[in-house]
Amino acid sequence: MSSALWTRYIKLKTVRGEEVFGKRVILRVDFNVAFAKGKVEDEYKIDMTLPTIRLLLKNKCQIVLLSHLGRPEGRRVNAMSLKPVYNILRAKLPGVSMRFFDDEIDLCLTGKIKQSKGKILFLENIRFDRREDENSKSLARLLASMGDAYVNEAFATCHRANASTIGIVNYLPGFAGLHLEKEVHYLSRALNPKKPAMALIGGAKVSTKFKVIKNFLKIYDKVMLGGGLANTFFAAKGYDVGGSLMEKGTLKSAKSLLRSSRLMLPLDVIVTDRKTRRRARYVLVGNDKRLCAKNEEILDVGPATIRAYALEIRQAQTIVWGGPMGFVEIPRFSHGTLALAKLIGARASGRAVGIAGGGETLYAIHLSKMGKYYDFISTGGGAMLEFLEGKKLPGIEVLKHGVNKTI
Ligand code: 3PG
Repeated sequence: MSSALWTRYIKLKTVRGEEVFGKRVILRVDFNVAFAKGKVEDEYKIDMTLPTIRLLLKNKCQIVLLSHLGRPEGRRVNAMSLKPVYNILRAKLPGVSMRFFDDEIDLCLTGKIKQSKGKILFLENIRFDRREDENSKSLARLLASMGDAYVNEAFATCHRANASTIGIVNYLPGFAGLHLEKEVHYLSRALNPKKPAMALIGGAKVSTKFKVIKNFLKIYDKVMLGGGLANTFFAAKGYDVGGSLMEKGTLKSAKSLLRSSRLMLPLDVIVTDRKTRRRARYVLVGNDKRLCAKNEEILDVGPATIRAYALEIRQAQTIVWGGPMGFVEIPRFSHGTLALAKLIGARASGRAVGIAGGGETLYAIHLSKMGKYYDFISTGGGAMLEFLEGKKLPGIEVLKHGVNKTI
């Protein structure tokens, strides 16, 4: 795809290689990956940085790699060390000389970096330094002094105004990475959709999704809900959702959004007892206002919902999906999410543009084995939501053409 198309909506200064040829480049990535039993659970975020890393290496750059992991709040927390991620990256780039620096960020480290011959110099979790979150000038200057140019390949962190995402661009010419450019392109397409446009929104973090739903109700033909989000809307309609996941504090906002005829709620749900989660009971959403008892919870959508949502997906030219329809980690309650994940994959990359994002959604797409048919899967969680709300992300604003220094 041509670079003109990538930058259809926001004119980003994207790295192409020749402008940084032979330079030392500070590369900000987002290796904030999930761990399970001490092992990295999903390498998607790491894989998506590889084309930019390879482009820089091909152009004889030395890379100083920066990332955060978790929220250590300015303290050294062993469990949040990036060393395991460094080892994964080494395995993905055989033959590339790499070094890991667990030093504090100061003039001494700057000196070491300048003398090092390694091709990739991987720094320890940048959030171990409290100045990162504070967007401190002193940290931004120190980081900038380690290189000649800056590339941001950390879309998932672009909603944070940190020293390594915006401060540094005051001192170095800044560029967007190749994947960041794709993020901006596809999410901009999601905000300027080809019609009919359908959004499928679910998941647990209810309050973080209201602004996105509100925005989508203005521009999309249908907004279909599931998961904990749908439970909150059921409660706002006066249904008793028993012990289901929901957020009481958002009932008022849910009530106001319910006025839209574009909003679709599940027609049927799968209920289980909260203690064992062994049994599954089918409940049709109808006149009976009691969907489940206090010791029960809703953990999936039912077949009538899958069929109704499928009919919308079948007509769509744009489909955006964020958040599972149920408790996808338990196979018994993953049917709704997996069925819809497959339907979106079947329609995407051709008849419709299919865009998805968010940690649990990624996991569901992985289970469905349909990932390769999606047009785009975002690495962003909070950043994607803020982008889709229509907000300007600080990390992206500083990478627009004409905003920052030239090399
Ligand atoms: C993410 O995983 O969404 C990003 O890495 C941002 O993390 P944060 O919410 O801790 O800033």
